[in-house]
Amino acid sequence: MAESRFALDDRLPADYLANALRSDALEGLSTAPRTLPPKWFYDKRGSDLFEQITMLPEYYPARAEQEILTRRASEIAGLTRATTLIELGSGSSRKTRLLLDALTAGGTLQRYAPLDVSSSTLREASEAICRDYPALSVTATVADFTTGLALPDHPGPRLLAFLGSTIGNFDADQRSAFYRALALTLSSDDVLLLGADLVKDPDALVRAYDDLSGVTAEFNKNVLHVLNRGLGSDFDPDAYDHVALWNADEERIEMRLRARTAQTVKIPELELSLDIAQGEDLRTELSCKFRRETLTQELREGGFTVRNWWTDTAGRFALLLAVPN
Ligand code: SAH
Ligand code: TRP
Repeated sequence: MAESRFALDDRLPADYLANALRSDALEGLSTAPRTLPPKWFYDKRGSDLFEQITMLPEYYPARAEQEILTRRASEIAGLTRATTLIELGSGSSRKTRLLLDALTAGGTLQRYAPLDVSSSTLREASEAICRDYPALSVTATVADFTTGLALPDHPGPRLLAFLGSTIGNFDADQRSAFYRALALTLSSDDVLLLGADLVKDPDALVRAYDDLSGVTAEFNKNVLHVLNRGLGSDFDPDAYDHVALWNADEERIEMRLRARTAQTVKIPELELSLDIAQGEDLRTELSCKFRRETLTQELREGGFTVRNWWTDTAGRFALLLAVPN
């Protein structure tokens, strides 16, 4: 591999993850309801489990988004004429290849710049892309997109992709802060490509987050392994049930781990001992679902105008192009 075409920039200070895990656990676990931020799902095992989730028959969002990208990638390439594709939370970058193919065929793309907090997955995915796209430069960044958006300052127009409805894993306040920060960072010729899962029949939604084969349950419980490894705690992942419930008022799926029995968990690194009641929930993830009108409106308030809105044929998932105002 030509070294000059590939760079991986680790922007996380050496002790960042250890410190952030400690403060997130201290803040989230010592008060009711107990919560944990979602980035802790994605260690190596978690990222592998997520990749399995995207192949589950129940997990329609991945296929729906892929269907839209397959149909619209060349249109997106023509509309944006991007020279750089930046991707936040790129993971395996699997669907991204549809964009890379179209933007390469369109003759404009020079660089792919994926960003993810999961360094092993990022390295693997970006090296594979560098190998498979010999005309591209690949500059990967290990960073946490919730603590500042220092985007690579490459010549534009830049297309910034945020796929997989990862936007739905933010609550309304976090989304608003995210749009504003992004609008400030992007130039007037840059474009945002956002994937968002839509409100639909609750049964289909719950199935997507509580699959029959139990992969999503494993993924959810993996966060307890991450805590045990990082903080020396003694959570017993098998002592919790995976729960995915539809919150109809907030129009979101809530992922929880429900204690099967009363238990005491020791977290030596935090000098903390938690008394968890039988049936008590640890809240591990939100997955907000969207409607066209309200998503367009919140983007407008955050500094973006939606220019294109596409869905899969079944109308389950949306992909949109938006420009900074
Ligand atoms: N875009 C891919 C992966 C989605 S899963 C797809 O559509 O299939 C969410 C991805 O975001 C994971 O790769 C995870 O490691 C990354 N991620 C989660 N929280 C993050 C954070 N705070 N900063 C950077 N990346 C994050
Ligand atoms: N962004 C994905 C989504 O909201 C993340 C995800 C899929 C997820 N399945 C999950 C997060 C299960 C936690 C648990 O659809």
